[in-house]
Amino acid sequence: MLSDAITQYQQRVDKQLADFIDSQNETEPRLKAAMKHGALIGGKRIRPFLVYAVGDMLNIPLAHLDNCAAAIECIHAYSLIHDDLPAMDDDALRRGQPTVHIAFDEATAILAGDALQTLAFEIISKETPNLKARQQLAMVRALAQASGYQGMCGGQSMDLNATDKEIDLDTLKRLHRLKTGALIRCAVQLPIIAANITDSERDLLLEFADAIGLAFQVQDDVLDIIASTEELGKPQGSDCDSNKSTYPKLLGLSGAQQTAKSLIDDALSALAKLPYNSQLIAQFARFIIERRV
Ligand code: IPE
Ligand code: IPE
Ligand code: MG
Ligand code: MG
Ligand code: MG
Repeated sequence: MLSDAITQYQQRVDKQLADFIDSQNETEPRLKAAMKHGALIGGKRIRPFLVYAVGDMLNIPLAHLDNCAAAIECIHAYSLIHDDLPAMDDDALRRGQPTVHIAFDEATAILAGDALQTLAFEIISKETPNLKARQQLAMVRALAQASGYQGMCGGQSMDLNATDKEIDLDTLKRLHRLKTGALIRCAVQLPIIAANITDSERDLLLEFADAIGLAFQVQDDVLDIIASTEELGKPQGSDCDSNKSTYPKLLGLSGAQQTAKSLIDDALSALAKLPYNSQLIAQFARFIIERRV
């Protein structure tokens, strides 16, 4: 059931993304090719999955969620292109392919990231049937906040500053919540904005989102150690080689795995309090710590 839904939503967002990027003019075919390389080849599409799955649970037609799903994946793809740059993590492999700066060049990778970031806002601000302008404005704001200084970029900066350093667990938690958690929280927030739910339902869903967002990055840190380069499609041991601050580094491998598990337990208990059929997203929460990709 979960794997069918993942495939279905993957295919759905892939079509949206391909259509949006293809429909851009041919001003710079090489830049466009770099954007496609970074956004269209591979990727689990977990943020679009959350947009669709949470939205579907809240009875929002999938067609009303397509722009949100594509937009958030554009931000994510841009964040990965920049994350792999020599000035950041300096990685050469992503989603089983050479990273964008290796397949093209550094300047093109920077611009492809920039262009995907702005494309996200072009897409999410596109008039969407059944969404009010006020709702779309709230979505634009949520995506901007999750992506920028108060979200992913702020977390990426903390990550770079924590490299080759000892930091405490509270600081690492804040870092992970920003660099990865913020965008995952946003993936849950976007369908909430489109829906008509109570404040307490919203708070429970965001509690769920925060717990899986942190667990997702803890598991990413764990996979850097336990999964192979072939499984990951990105270089195994990259964090260790670069002396990154990670959960396994601070808590040991099994301590990090325990933390991820207890975060998923928290996520599931928040879900259980909701008056919706949350079976699919509960399965998805368990998948976060069971995955090897
Ligand atoms: C990797 O994200 C980077 C993190 C924020 C942990 P994903 O694991 O979602 O990467 P893809 O999109 O599936 O390649
Ligand atoms: C990246 O974290 C988070 C982003 C905002 C892209 P990582 O640096 O751990 O992601 P991977 O392991 O390279 O995918
Ligand atoms: Mg990084
Ligand atoms: Mg990285
Ligand atoms: Mg990582």
